[in-house]
Amino acid sequence: MRAREHGGGIIDLSQGTPVDKTPDFIQEALSAATNSPSYPVTIGTPELREAMRNWATNILGATGDFDVLPTIGSKELVAWLPSILQSKTVLYPKIAYPTYLVGSMIHGAEAIAVDIDANSWPKSDLAWINSPSNPTGRVHSISEIQSVISYARKNNSLVVSDECYLSFPATGPAPASILKIAGGDNKNLLAVHSMSKRSNLAGYRAGLIVGDPDVIAEIREVRKHAGMMLPLPIQRAMTAALSDEAHVVEQAERYAKRRELLSAALIKAGFTIDFSDAGLYIWCSRNEDCWSTVSWLADLGILTTPGIFYGGAGSKYIRIAMTATDNQISEAAERILESI
Ligand SMILES: Cc1ncc(COP(=O)(O)O)c(C=O)c1O
Repeated sequence: MRAREHGGGIIDLSQGTPVDKTPDFIQEALSAATNSPSYPVTIGTPELREAMRNWATNILGATGDFDVLPTIGSKELVAWLPSILQSKTVLYPKIAYPTYLVGSMIHGAEAIAVDIDANSWPKSDLAWINSPSNPTGRVHSISEIQSVISYARKNNSLVVSDECYLSFPATGPAPASILKIAGGDNKNLLAVHSMSKRSNLAGYRAGLIVGDPDVIAEIREVRKHAGMMLPLPIQRAMTAALSDEAHVVEQAERYAKRRELLSAALIKAGFTIDFSDAGLYIWCSRNEDCWSTVSWLADLGILTTPGIFYGGAGSKYIRIAMTATDNQISEAAERILESI
């Protein structure tokens, strides 16, 4: 409400919801498929399956034996996976997207927040990793991913790598999919991907999982009876979206420019920026309680998210999303600079 009272209007950088246009060719693929009287197939049309496999091979770098399955968004998959797999113990990062915990709670699983280093993890049925991270933009190093893979192999535990921000590198080495690092042995490994950010398709609700064929067979069997089939027009749109990378590179450039502009203003205003190496977010601090920082920015008409929403370790941080127009991001940077 405070941010809304600002004379220049509110700039909402709180929710990571894309605002840039859905590419025309994807909209066209959707509207060409509106005559859709039959039930859609759970596993996806042959064209979509081929597009997902090609994308997993060419873009993720997956090799060896793997399967693919389309999902309604990836939030829905994250929320329901512990229930579908009847997981009793679930690990999730200490600073994390809240749906890992909520999905465990829906199923009544024991949820344990863990550090990045998989060598310290207890045994579990399902362990989530998220790189690039929401909210921190942290990218796992290759050796951290290798430790996670060793954990999965040693404990016979499923590791699910949420990679929905993989397309948006910012600084440092490009983030890598767990399936690339696995080197063709994909047992107990799944990668979760989303069309929402990559292709500005959050409103369509489309995602996919790639990885261990036995785990995907188990999920597919449940889904055949539990529903959650991806609507056919969305399958057609997703097939088109996965077959093009130019629009993804364009979007990545947009976010990189916004990140640069906003980061420079925040640093001048005395903020410390941590991680924020890739993805959609700037994870920053004024070394004070996060609500004080949220409040300071609200007085400038800028809405941000308190880091405490992502776990106790985030209590001195805020998350800033770059999901606003270029003009709004410039305006936000100006307001921050004028305030110092
Ligand atoms: C880490 C992470 N995973 C999954 C999702 C879900 O995205 P979607 O359901 O749009 O695919 C989000 C959305 O913000 C996210 O931040």
